[in-house]
Amino acid sequence: MYNIAIISGDGIGQEVMDSCEYLLDKLDIEFSFDYGEAGFDCFNKNGTTLPEETIKIANKSDAVLFGASTSTPGQPSPIINLRKALSVYANIRPIRSYRGVNCIRDDIDFVIVRENTEGLYSQVEYGDEEKMIAERRITRSASERISKAAFNLCIKREESKVTCVHKSNVLKKTDGVFKESFYKVSKNYPQIKTEDYYVDAMAMYLITHPQKFDVIVSSNLFGDILSDESAGLIGGLGLAPSGNIGDHNGLFEPVHGSAPDIAGKYIANPCSMILSASMMLDYLGEWEISNDIKQAVEKVMADCKIRTPDLGGDASTMDVTKAIVRELI
Ligand code: NAI
Ligand code: MG
Repeated sequence: MYNIAIISGDGIGQEVMDSCEYLLDKLDIEFSFDYGEAGFDCFNKNGTTLPEETIKIANKSDAVLFGASTSTPGQPSPIINLRKALSVYANIRPIRSYRGVNCIRDDIDFVIVRENTEGLYSQVEYGDEEKMIAERRITRSASERISKAAFNLCIKREESKVTCVHKSNVLKKTDGVFKESFYKVSKNYPQIKTEDYYVDAMAMYLITHPQKFDVIVSSNLFGDILSDESAGLIGGLGLAPSGNIGDHNGLFEPVHGSAPDIAGKYIANPCSMILSASMMLDYLGEWEISNDIKQAVEKVMADCKIRTPDLGGDASTMDVTKAIVRELI
């Protein structure tokens, strides 16, 4: 029996989480769910985007599922603070092409490993009327830790290369440390090839030859931006799952946000949330069922019949969810 913390958030976060729970209920695994609030609706109700109670529920769970939340003006981001509170420092974002989906190429299969605890997402900003400063904190310890996570993931995925992305020609000190840490850690993995690119060039290479990458490691903001770009290569954010892994907990969430433009229409693509749940099951050691879910999503995509409007179809979130469940049982 696994204790899972469910934090749906708002907007389509709630809709894709309903679909994910529907699927989890059909599996031959026992779960107990604890529910936590976070996000915009939560702020309007409780005066905070991330109540202490939610952090407690997440902390005592075996793993956390997070939907998405709309940003609240003047308030910190609940997901960034939750990742920090749980010390889930490695944000793992797999990107691959699916048969039947309009991808830029059909042989894309890489993973972005994004540092989750510092960088430009420190949320430390200050200044005056005229000038505002945002703190971009990069430490050797966090940079080495994320590089190590990237190399270990490269071994787990049986791949051969890790690419470090930075901007050390301009951010000489902060990204100097990030790059140096990467090459220091690489010495412990002599069997794995290494390379590094400036983030602006990398933004282009991801479009010109995305098939050449295996594991990409970057700091918080760059990793976030490259993830959405990468999702665009494979049909959009509806197919981009993620896991946030630490030494003691794992938090799994789609890469996308609350999508206010489609919220309430029940047409959000549930695949990124469902694939995030598959990553959670892999993390929990339920490898077989994790793999079955991935294959069920692949099958439904390849069939090209039941799909949400973002992929050119007219099915609802629940239609797609049920089609995936039908492949599973
Ligand atoms: P977004 O990821 O919510 O949406 C970007 C575009 O992708 C929209 O056109 C949306 O309709 C589409 N999209 C996203 N997920 C989809 C899905 N599952 N199925 C079909 N289409 C999908 O990003 P946006 O619009 O920049 O931000 C909306 C809100 O979400 C903002 O308040 C933002 O701060 C928040 N946000 C929250 C995140 C989180 O909770 N982890 C992450 C990113 C943004
Ligand atoms: Mg993002």
